[in-house]
Amino acid sequence: RRLAVLISGSGTNLQALIDAQNTPALPNTSIVLVLSNRKAAHGLVRATSASPPIPTAYLALQPYLRHNPGKTREDYDLELARIVVRAKPDVVVLAGWMHIVSESFLEVLRGHHKIEDEIRTPGDSDNDENPISTGPIPVINIHPALPGQFDGANAIQRGYEAFQRGEVDRLGVMVHRVVAEVDRGEPLIVREVPIEKGESIEVYEERLHSVEWEIIVQATKRVLDEVKPMPPSEGNGIDSDD
Ligand code: GRF
Repeated sequence: RRLAVLISGSGTNLQALIDAQNTPALPNTSIVLVLSNRKAAHGLVRATSASPPIPTAYLALQPYLRHNPGKTREDYDLELARIVVRAKPDVVVLAGWMHIVSESFLEVLRGHHKIEDEIRTPGDSDNDENPISTGPIPVINIHPALPGQFDGANAIQRGYEAFQRGEVDRLGVMVHRVVAEVDRGEPLIVREVPIEKGESIEVYEERLHSVEWEIIVQATKRVLDEVKPMPPSEGNGIDSDD
C-alpha cells in the first residue's frame, strides 16, 4: 500500500510513519512521496536519509506565485494535487502540513478528474504510461487538540494556556479526515492527554507529540485498511499445496 505524506516542518510524525513501514503497525506499506511546502523542512532530510530513500518534492506558495505571474493560490493547490496524484498514493497523510488545503485540492483527490486532462501530455493514449490514479484518495490530518478545540496553528500553546486559565479541563490530540474546513473533519482517533500538575509546556508538548506518533500510525493503518485491505493472513493453519 502507498502513502503520500505532506509536511511543513521537523517531520517527527513523518518519522513515526517511516519507522512503521512494513512492520505489524503498518504492514505492506511504503511511503512513496514526501511533499513539503517549505524547502527548509527537516522532514525532507528524514525522507532522503531513510533507507530506502523516499522520493521528495517541495513546492512553496510564494515562489510559485512569483514564478507564475497570473497564477493564483488555487492554481498552486491544483499543482500540489497534481504532484500528489502522480505518486498514485492510496492514502494522503498531512503530518504537520501548515497550509490550508482547498476544496479544489480535495476534489482532485476525491477523483473528480478535475485535473486529469491537464496532466495528460498531448498525444497521450489512454494507456498506463501516464498513470493517474484519481480514485477517491482519502486525506487525514494530525492535530494536537481535541475535536472542536483550538482549530488552526499554535494549538498546543493555546490549549496549554487555556488550561492554565481554567477555560478547558481536557486537552489531547486527534487524527481526523480532512475536509476543506480547517481541522474539522470526522475524527478517526482521539486521545486525551491530561496535563500533570505544574508541568511546563515543553514537557507537556513532548508528551503530546509522543502520543501523536502513536495515533498517526494507527489512523493511517485504519484508513489504508479501508481502501486497500490486507489479504487474509497467510499461514492460517490450513495446509494448502497451491
Ligand atoms: C504536530 O504537532 C502536528 O500535530 C502539528 O504540527 C506538528 C508537526 O510536527 N500539525 P512534526 O513536523 O511532525 O514534527
